[in-house]
Amino acid sequence: MERFVDLIHNKKTGRELSDTDIKNMVRGYCDGSIPDYQMSAMLMAICFNGLSDRELTTLTLAMRDSGQINDLSSIPGIKVDKHSTGGVGDKTTLIIGPIAAACGIPIAKMSGRGLGFTGGTIDKLESIPGFRTDLSTEDFFHAVQHTGICLNGQTGELAPADKMIYALRDVTATVDSIPLIAASIMSKKLAAGSDKILLDVTTGNGAFIKDYQQSLELAHKMVTIGTKAGKNTVAQLTSMDEPLGFAIGNNLEVKEAIHALHGDGPKDLMDVCYCLASHMISLGKEISVEEARMLAEDAIHSGRAWNTFLAMVQEQGGDISYMEHPERLPQAAVIYEYKAARSGYITAMDTEGFGTVAGILGAGRSRKEDNIDVSAGIVLCHKVNDHVTEGDTLACLHTSSLELAQAAAEKLEGCYQFGESPGEAIRLIGDVVV
Ligand code: URA
Repeated sequence: MERFVDLIHNKKTGRELSDTDIKNMVRGYCDGSIPDYQMSAMLMAICFNGLSDRELTTLTLAMRDSGQINDLSSIPGIKVDKHSTGGVGDKTTLIIGPIAAACGIPIAKMSGRGLGFTGGTIDKLESIPGFRTDLSTEDFFHAVQHTGICLNGQTGELAPADKMIYALRDVTATVDSIPLIAASIMSKKLAAGSDKILLDVTTGNGAFIKDYQQSLELAHKMVTIGTKAGKNTVAQLTSMDEPLGFAIGNNLEVKEAIHALHGDGPKDLMDVCYCLASHMISLGKEISVEEARMLAEDAIHSGRAWNTFLAMVQEQGGDISYMEHPERLPQAAVIYEYKAARSGYITAMDTEGFGTVAGILGAGRSRKEDNIDVSAGIVLCHKVNDHVTEGDTLACLHTSSLELAQAAAEKLEGCYQFGESPGEAIRLIGDVVV
């Protein structure tokens, strides 16, 4: 067997690693026989020289195989998973999960918590009183069979190699490598066990990857991995050049999702949800995206998506009276109106900045063990290309104290750009990669 130092040298000088080398590398790093310093050097060499499609697929499958792989085969039907690469105000799973389930697609989804400036579906769901996201595998399966959908936290340990490698990337400046991101995301998606995968690859100033061409490259790489692993995978690029919808923060987003499930959500949110739901339904039913879109719209307008959402909340222990009367959900102690300091058009919003400010207000964590304030966050009154007059309320900041609101308001100042005329319209829905 080659010494690991020789493999690092090979990658550094642009040579390909064999499948055996890659599998041994993942196994060796997990069992401790490859130390952090050597793995760090390898990750940096991958950052500079990339991975071929074969190397990338082998790496992803080795990471997938490092832990539990869910077997969903006892749930009848084609299970379609959905993953977003993260954003601000992104509450789409709460809406498109019930839409797709109402159209007969079993949704057995494991979601995550907020990461950095991005929110997480599990935190949003847990802001519903009583809602449980720690169902056992048995209860998870039962919920999918009973209501057609379950949105749960991770059961068992999926892709532990990713967890270890991600932690090392985080401290070695190797997080932003496109092949490493692709392997990280797809190792977990493949371990989660659904038959087909829809990837919402966000792009723009509130996304993990901000450059459109790089986001497209990430989408292509993830679709290649999914396809080579035998799972039909589709990626849809969507813009994060402004927050999605108006609400940012956990129960504020649940309230907005409730409006959307009644067909009454903000236009950008509805457009993205119909687009993503159509892909999921198209994958699950093997019909065209256009036909799927009609089914998605009907699921909303008939009330079936809403009823499916209520059934899901009830099945997972949530109190549906709060969903029927969302005004009863806990409210922040302070609602601070953030005013425009000048008149003009909003020409740009620093979306990542809004995510960070929502975190300051209490909606996110700065350490894993931090508690979040379920009612904290931001409700926008205006978005890009709106005209505002000095003194208009730009956003309402929901938080627990005036001090926090004032600290957040100071930061928000840098998050808006104004001009004398509107800028180019944001291209909300980008390319599809199949
Ligand atoms: N999300 C992941 O799961 N992994 C990455 O590397 C980046 C975003």
